[in-house]
Amino acid sequence: MRLPTREDRFSFGLWTVGWTGIDPFGAPTRPALRPWDYVERLAEIGAWGISFHDNDVYAFDTDEAEQDRILDRLKTTVDSAGLTIEMITTNTFTHPVFKDGGLTSNDRSVRRFGLRKVLRAVDVAARMGASTFVMWGGREGSEYDGSKDVFSALERYKEGIDTVAAYIKSRGYDLRIALEPKPNEPRGDIFLPTVGHALALIAELEHGDIVGLNPETGHEQMANLNFTHAIAQALWSGKLFHIDLNGQRGLKYDQDLVFGHGDLISAFFSVDLLENGFPGCPDGPRYTGPRHFDYKPSRTEHLPGVWESAKACMDTYLRLAAKARAFRQDPRVIDAMTYAGVFDLARPTLGDGESIEAFRSADADFDPDAVAQRDFGFVGLQQLAVEHLIG
Ligand code: GCO
Ligand code: MN
Ligand code: MN
Repeated sequence: MRLPTREDRFSFGLWTVGWTGIDPFGAPTRPALRPWDYVERLAEIGAWGISFHDNDVYAFDTDEAEQDRILDRLKTTVDSAGLTIEMITTNTFTHPVFKDGGLTSNDRSVRRFGLRKVLRAVDVAARMGASTFVMWGGREGSEYDGSKDVFSALERYKEGIDTVAAYIKSRGYDLRIALEPKPNEPRGDIFLPTVGHALALIAELEHGDIVGLNPETGHEQMANLNFTHAIAQALWSGKLFHIDLNGQRGLKYDQDLVFGHGDLISAFFSVDLLENGFPGCPDGPRYTGPRHFDYKPSRTEHLPGVWESAKACMDTYLRLAAKARAFRQDPRVIDAMTYAGVFDLARPTLGDGESIEAFRSADADFDPDAVAQRDFGFVGLQQLAVEHLIG
């Protein structure tokens, strides 16, 4: 298998390889390195880009002059390593002030503080040359239904996102916002729990044109949803701005496993969509963003295991991409897709220029009982995917 190159545009959050293994039950199992140390290692293993939260690189209470010094040092390392800072995001979840949220806290002074912190991170993103600004509202939500007026919470969420988008436009920054859905954890219920919820909110925004999505594999799967369908609908809506690839096994806490270490066949079809687009729509929308991993190297691993796990994310992606290409080109797959009607679904249901009245009286000879005997061969098609995947 070939090694990753810059052209693959693999990117890692500094909080991923930088996770020290601290969890609600245990102390760190690994040391924290300095932000630039991760950059050099990521460049060595073939990554193209990095992303970070403001507080991955400087502490919450760092003054702006010191923030700028740290950011300059980081940018110098990134530039000399030949990497890109492609995405930046804000931590509005760690500090206790955000315990009831950043943009949707019941406390207005917190909302004003949280929004100002996000705007500061937008400036940082522009200064670092990032093209995507992720908003993951991990603390926006509740544990108890009586504690939150959801109408007002959604109004405030909308107000906050629109303010950030309006600020980006007013400053002329070349940045797009990507909302990251998650159903729960750390809140009992998080607002914008799925890709569909986020798309619905974007449709209500005043500045929704620069707001899209950053779906995460495990987050849709925590809601028992199909991640490939989620990114497909985001693509169909022109809103797949960014992606967080990782692994999740079933309905449990957010595992953030290495990409492919969860539902492997789902990962295969996600990569197939990202690399090859929609099978029936060669001119359909394609994902053009980075291949960004948001995973946590398990806390059983020490530093060598951190780098092995980052390499595993990229290696698995490349293997799946090669297999997905072979799958799409296999004449048996093309025949099976034809037999299954996969390509036929691209044909509009009504004829070109067919009036609804004409349509209503058409197909008088359609025999549902006869057509019901059609075989689709979906299982055979799926087995071809399995054959490519494990063959
Ligand atoms: C999670 C989330 C976070 C966000 C990140 C970006 O695993 O709960 O993925 O890691 O992606 O904080 O803001
Ligand atoms: Mn996650
Ligand atoms: Mn994420």
